[in-house]
Amino acid sequence: MGLRQCCRARLWLLGSGGLVSLLLLAALYGSGPGLQPLVFFSPWRIQNPLYKLDLSWPKFPELFTGQTFCVAVDHIHGLIYVGQRGDHVPKVLVFSEEGYFLQAWNTTTLEMPHGIFALNTANESSVWITDVGTGNYGHTIKQYSPSCKLLQVIGTPGIAGSGTNPIQLDQPAEIFVDDTGDIYIVDGDGGMNNRLFKLTQDLKTLWLRGENGSGTAQFRIPHSVTVDSLGRVWVADRGNQRIQVFDKTTGEWLGSWSNCFVEDGPYSVRLTADEKYMITAQLNINRVLILAAPPIGSIGDCVVVDTIQLAAKVRPHLLDISLKSGAVYVAEIGAQQVQKYVPVE
Ligand SMILES: *[C@@H]1O[C@H](CO)[C@@H](O)[C@H](O)[C@H]1NC(C)=O
Ligand SMILES: *[C@@H]1O[C@H](CO)[C@@H](O)[C@H](O)[C@H]1NC(C)=O
Ligand SMILES: *[C@@H]1O[C@H](CO)[C@@H](O)[C@H](O)[C@H]1NC(C)=O
Repeated sequence: MGLRQCCRARLWLLGSGGLVSLLLLAALYGSGPGLQPLVFFSPWRIQNPLYKLDLSWPKFPELFTGQTFCVAVDHIHGLIYVGQRGDHVPKVLVFSEEGYFLQAWNTTTLEMPHGIFALNTANESSVWITDVGTGNYGHTIKQYSPSCKLLQVIGTPGIAGSGTNPIQLDQPAEIFVDDTGDIYIVDGDGGMNNRLFKLTQDLKTLWLRGENGSGTAQFRIPHSVTVDSLGRVWVADRGNQRIQVFDKTTGEWLGSWSNCFVEDGPYSVRLTADEKYMITAQLNINRVLILAAPPIGSIGDCVVVDTIQLAAKVRPHLLDISLKSGAVYVAEIGAQQVQKYVPVE
């Protein structure tokens, strides 16, 4: 259903801007016979958008057969991993950045994928998926090889909990793994936990921020996590309608943005390769927000640079950005598809 409907709103906006300009020109020049060659200029034209929909991605959108909850980009190998839910559907689909379908995972070890992360460093390439299922394999995060071999399970399969030794999870929302192998987890998506924690590669807890609430460094549905090159950990604190930022070494709270999220909380946090922009999805209002990411130091107030308004019921959930091409891939639960938005030159 609903394929390709996302950009109607934006096309309509551009279209109406052009119409206003034409009417203006008609009003200014329309009556006289000696019409000069037109210099097309309209001070009312909306600012050029930063991204445009790539209608050619993927080549065969009918391959999306479930609810597409998440997407991860392996920019080194040019691969796009899509996590979807549903009965009797492959839980992971793999596409190329060009939009060709490459593989469907046959694994039975995934129940309900929520978040997905592609780790790509000089010495490692793996795919990490949070599983919010309540069956025998749920309440866990799984690490797979690029060809779907299960490498590691974090959490106690089938058992929800709050422990840290061993790690227990309840509806883990998302994971980020950095180049050194350190792991950041937000747990979770509405279960008993409201935690952000950092683990070593062998799952020792380095620090934990774990209070339920709306105060400083407390969370209500911490939904997405990413870490920037300046050592800041960004968390989409969805239920509190804000993004909170922490120091990656100490876990110390650095700041919070809430002024951009009055209508709906942020669902995702991802930075562009140059770290100029933070891109986040707002599921309930069908919008992708492009925010100015501040340089080192105080994060200040949130500033909207651009928006991509999607059609009603598209419901953008989580997204990822190719650090090579700059393309933004958005997992849209309502439209049951992932769409690609490319930077406008
Ligand atoms: C999944 O299973 C089908 C049928 O058993 C098989 O043809 C296909 O190659 C498998 N795919 C992968 C990626 O293992
Ligand atoms: C990759 O190798 C480097 C250097 O040996 C090491 O410090 C790092 O932890 C490794 N990364 C991962 C993800 O294992
Ligand atoms: C968190 O706190 C809120 C407000 O007090 C409460 O409604 C909610 O049930 C709490 N969540 C958990 C997981 O304890």
